[in-house]
Amino acid sequence: MNTTIPTKLTDRFGRTVDYLRISITDRCDFRCVYCMAEDMTFLPRNQILSLEEIYMLAKTFVELGVKKIRITGGEPLVRKGALELFQQIGALNGLHELVLTTNGSQLVTAAPILKAANVKRLNISLDTLDATKFKELTRTGDLQQVLNGIAASKKVGFERIKLNAVILKNRNHKEVCDLVQFAIDNEIDISFIEEMPLGVVEKHNRAEAYYSSDEIRADLAQRFTLIQSTEKTNAPSDYSDIPNTKTRVGFISPHSHNFCSTCNRVRLTVEGRLLLCLGNEHSIDLKEILRSPDFSSEKLKQAIIDSMEIKPEKHEFNIKEQPIILRYMNMTGG
Ligand code: GTP
Ligand code: 5AD
Ligand code: SF4
Repeated sequence: MNTTIPTKLTDRFGRTVDYLRISITDRCDFRCVYCMAEDMTFLPRNQILSLEEIYMLAKTFVELGVKKIRITGGEPLVRKGALELFQQIGALNGLHELVLTTNGSQLVTAAPILKAANVKRLNISLDTLDATKFKELTRTGDLQQVLNGIAASKKVGFERIKLNAVILKNRNHKEVCDLVQFAIDNEIDISFIEEMPLGVVEKHNRAEAYYSSDEIRADLAQRFTLIQSTEKTNAPSDYSDIPNTKTRVGFISPHSHNFCSTCNRVRLTVEGRLLLCLGNEHSIDLKEILRSPDFSSEKLKQAIIDSMEIKPEKHEFNIKEQPIILRYMNMTGG
């Protein structure tokens, strides 16, 4: 037995990876214009990790020093058995935080179960408060269902709830102040996200839709005072406080402000690919290792440790060109 396996993941640039994002399904009940094509083909069952395999990988990463796990999708809550998986991962010894990114559509029923499973914080996507626009942007979503989900989650009392709003010029850029006001009224946080070019989406021109975080900041300054937060995180969000409110406003700006130097995360796709960076294709196939006849947990751990050698230094996104990354965001959950 190899007893020299380290309990920490460190890459070539000295960054420690202690945060794993797991996409537990590529499926979703919405079809957001910036995320998916209208007519998507999803992965067949034999190509995706079983819930047992996902749990086994989560446990292994925690043994390698991962402190925070975020469950993403697609929409994670549409996967059958998702809530049981939350209960199992939430009980892992050594994990400090289990968190979830969701579109909010299932939260009315799921929120209390998630809370009981030790989920600490929720990120809920909400790009507009206008029901018609919501339908246009998500193609299939129902705004009221998501608003009810947000209300149900607040009642349950998570440590923190954050809204995620992807802002697109001429689609929802005029709503940034209303979204912040909604966050203030609900005593929750909000992050504005610059769209990233992952996958080709027909009838949607990403260069034309680009609306920078700086433009959003300028719009917000008309109505709110934003004070740069002094709290240091490894997160891509750059946070500001709004005095006399409980709300923090974050800006995720992969185009205008690069945050890769403090990157602490890797991503597991539902196909079992460990992606070392959202904006690059560098990856290793953990499903192959898991399903190999001579599987051992030492081999799995060693492969994860070795993968740190290929974690890229940074992403290069260019919305003016065809994306170099052909996978859609629903493969990685952001
Ligand atoms: P924390 O990491 O817990 O702070 O949450 P988050 O805000 O990063 O996570 P969430 O799932 O809510 O994602 C919000 C947006 O941030 C999504 O659009 C993600 O694609 C983006 N994002 C998260 N991590 C990265 C990253 O490493 N690189 C880039 N370019 N974008 C990221
Ligand atoms: N660019 C930026 N953010 C995206 N999201 C989905 N697709 C994209 C994209 N192409 C967001 C969702 C969700 C988060 C996980 O990622 O709105 O809030
Ligand atoms: Fe579904 Fe989220 Fe993609 Fe929208 S952004 S289609 S809610 S996975």
